[in-house]
Amino acid sequence: MSAITENKAPGSVPILEIRGLRKAFDRVPVLRDISFTVNTGNVVTIIGPSGSGKSTLLRCASFLENANDGDILYDGQYAMKGGVYAPKKELNRFRTLFGMVFQNFNLFPHYSVLKNICEPPTLRGCDREEARERASELLKKMGLEGKENAYPCQLSGGQQQRVAIARALALNPEILYFDEPTSALDPELTGEVLKVIRQLAEDHMTMVVVTHEMSFAHAVSHQVIFMDGGYIMEEGSPEQIFENPQQERTKRFLSNYKK
Ligand SMILES: Nc1ncnc2c1ncn2[C@@H]1O[C@H](COP(=O)(O)OP(=O)(O)O)[C@@H](O)[C@H]1O
Ligand SMILES: [Mg+2]
Repeated sequence: MSAITENKAPGSVPILEIRGLRKAFDRVPVLRDISFTVNTGNVVTIIGPSGSGKSTLLRCASFLENANDGDILYDGQYAMKGGVYAPKKELNRFRTLFGMVFQNFNLFPHYSVLKNICEPPTLRGCDREEARERASELLKKMGLEGKENAYPCQLSGGQQQRVAIARALALNPEILYFDEPTSALDPELTGEVLKVIRQLAEDHMTMVVVTHEMSFAHAVSHQVIFMDGGYIMEEGSPEQIFENPQQERTKRFLSNYKK
């Protein structure tokens, strides 16, 4: 835990603040004036139609994509101010604060499960034995005890995604980003991945989750953001967004998910 976040109640300290974020590809705006705050211990879900800018937003927040304008603050400190990024050294420090889980797992296919999880902390200077111990702990938490020596291709998609989550957690991030973590999985495997994310939420892990799993978002989120056309169209508690949406566009989007 960082100096800023320790000794504070979950949900009261901003770990990520985004203000007026803008991003265009070839002059086509993809993010338009995006502002929101994520407090420590909270789960923020981002919902919205395909192409609305959800992945680009996560990619900008994690410096995988350069935004054109706006502010990004981690722990109250500027990683980007008015479209200008902090020096590389500082960005690298901010990078240690977040972890990322993608739709397609992105494990190293030629590494064992254990090596997939241990390699990033070892590269950051963590003791090899300590990294192994922590990896085994995380595998247990993910319901993957005994899979240390398996290779990704020997695992189901749901198992691979849980390894990817363990790998992200092995670096002790303050905040975890998920970009449609279950979109490549069938419903049964989706359930097992959502279950571990829900468990992390119960442990007060701070998370931003882009998802199309509306009942999961309803049950787990502290805050829901609905995006469309590069804008945040509506933002609120899960009760507000799912039970009493104000915008026509939100209502229309959610009606596609009503069974
Ligand atoms: N690297 C890129 N180059 C050009 N256009 C892109 C690039 N990445 C995303 N886009 C465009 O930006 C828009 C938002 O994409 P994305 O953030 O992936 O949306 P979502 O994740 O909500 O489906 C889409 O129109 C997409 O085609
Ligand atoms: Mg996407």
